[in-house]
Amino acid sequence: MRAISQTEFGGTEVLHEIDVPRPEPLPTEVLVRVVSAGVNPVDAKTRAGGGMADVLGKPPFVLGWDVSGVVEEAGFGVHTLKPGDEVYGMPWFPRQAGGFSEYVTAPSRHFARKPSTVDHDAAAAVPLAALTAWQALHDAVHIKSGQRVLIHAAAGGVGHFAVQFAKAAGAHVTGTASAAKHDWLRGIGADEVIDYRTTRFEDATADQDVVLDLIGGDNAVRSVRVTKPGGIVVAIPGGVSADLADAAERRGVSAIPFLVEPDGHALTEIAALIDAGRVHVEVEQVYPFTRIAAAHERQESGRAQGKLVVRVAS
Ligand SMILES: NC(=O)c1ccc[n+]([C@@H]2O[C@H](COP(=O)([O-])OP(=O)(O)OC[C@H]3O[C@@H](n4cnc5c(N)ncnc54)[C@H](OP(=O)(O)O)[C@@H]3O)[C@@H](O)[C@H]2O)c1
Repeated sequence: MRAISQTEFGGTEVLHEIDVPRPEPLPTEVLVRVVSAGVNPVDAKTRAGGGMADVLGKPPFVLGWDVSGVVEEAGFGVHTLKPGDEVYGMPWFPRQAGGFSEYVTAPSRHFARKPSTVDHDAAAAVPLAALTAWQALHDAVHIKSGQRVLIHAAAGGVGHFAVQFAKAAGAHVTGTASAAKHDWLRGIGADEVIDYRTTRFEDATADQDVVLDLIGGDNAVRSVRVTKPGGIVVAIPGGVSADLADAAERRGVSAIPFLVEPDGHALTEIAALIDAGRVHVEVEQVYPFTRIAAAHERQESGRAQGKLVVRVAS
């Protein structure tokens, strides 16, 4: 099968196509024929030696965690999926999943049935970003109706799901984004939007119960100032720095680190929201498999609206 590999850390020039044997599913695993694979910041970061490079070790490896495709084989012990089922998932994270390949094998429970109302490109855009938003809001924070939530980078992959999940939970949602994306963000449910390029968000909002920080560094520290004492800042990229911990302690705010994990059950709930028309999946662009470097470059620009996807199946 075809896969996109690398033998050293570096820029997009290290990415190259290889031909490797198709994997075989162990008991409790499924073999999935990948139709589309989502691209995330962690792919570009890991390619360059950051991200999950500590987990994966030195190259060679095949990146890609988000896949949508069709079950080709179900291993011994798998009762919930069978060949022909359309599935999506974020298998193995943070271990190597090899999503940028024609086939992946993984525990069946890392997958869920893909939303039936969207195609594989849109389904592949969902798992990592949506699970991050879902687990941050529901598992880390236990969001409640009526709470005020500030979502930084609201127009990005994670952010646009977080806006919609927080609204579905009954929260009052404020998002930061550049002005050109404000109308769209209001359209998917943001109650208030702040143009972070012209306005310091501390001057435009206050008294948040929850902040999802998707920027890191000083942005997370500044977020403490707009959080109520007793509130929570979830530090999604980079974890909780010493500066963030100090600022949070002084204000009586909890600063919590976060790492997404595979979760087939949550993906089933997310698929139901998508199929009910309550959550929109924004795909900025779908790239052919041979143009994966362009997808990495766009990802690294930090400007994407919603998600980027690579079409694996020809
Ligand atoms: N810990 C975990 O488990 C985990 C999981 C998922 C993601 N992450 C991390 O979380 C971060 C966000 O991921 P993502 O997939 O959502 O990224 P993304 O899709 O690349 O985010 C792009 C968006 O960020 C916005 N943006 C850039 N700078 C901004 C700023 N200063 N203020 C507000 N918005 C800004 C851009 O909007 P404009 O064009 O309007 O600027 C763009 O729409 C990444 O660092 C990623 O690695 C961590």
